[in-house]
Amino acid sequence: MSKKIIFATGNQDKMREIREIYGDLGYEILSMKEAGIDVDIVEDGETFEENALIKAKAIAACCDAIVFADDSGLEIDYLNKEPGVYSARYMGEDTSYDIKNANLIQRLDGVAKEDRTARFVCAIAAVFPDGSHKVVRGTIEGYIGWEPAGTNGFGYDPIFYVDEYGCSTAELSPEEKNKISHRGNALRMMKEELITYENSRG
Ligand code: IMP
Repeated sequence: MSKKIIFATGNQDKMREIREIYGDLGYEILSMKEAGIDVDIVEDGETFEENALIKAKAIAACCDAIVFADDSGLEIDYLNKEPGVYSARYMGEDTSYDIKNANLIQRLDGVAKEDRTARFVCAIAAVFPDGSHKVVRGTIEGYIGWEPAGTNGFGYDPIFYVDEYGCSTAELSPEEKNKISHRGNALRMMKEELITYENSRG
């Protein structure tokens, strides 16, 4: 039987990223659709970790492969970590990010740079065929700028600035962003967990 990982996503950019980072491990990496799995999952956890694990467990119940699932979002410290696990649903799922981003900048009106700290968070959960699971959290620290900039990336990227590059993550190339991103970091951490799991099985 070939070694398989099913990644609970329909997002092709995420599939590309995981295939790049895990390419040397010899796994066949499939999206849910490629694996022929179609389940409706209610993500009603209160943390990124809970949501990632809810998704991974629901899919693991339908197959005997290793299952990965992720949950991510933006935490703004000044706003008590909003939008957090509600990042996709903030102001309504169908509201454009131009509007969401303008709203968040408005809510930080008059706030100095040192209080505009924020981070993207990505939790990845893995459920292994022996029933065990692991959850890791990757982050990238930054701050909310005073105006949106850049057209790369998606979501909150135009307002999320990183000091190291002096620009927003929407101004970075996908390769530059993946090297430092919350999801890239979480995927790299989970790679170590996967290698430990493999070694424990001899
Ligand atoms: P998901 O976990 O990939 O569904 O992401 C949840 C939401 O978090 C997205 O819809 C975005 O609003 C936000 N988000 C997560 N990662 C990023 C990122 O890298 N850039 C911008 N927004 C992000």
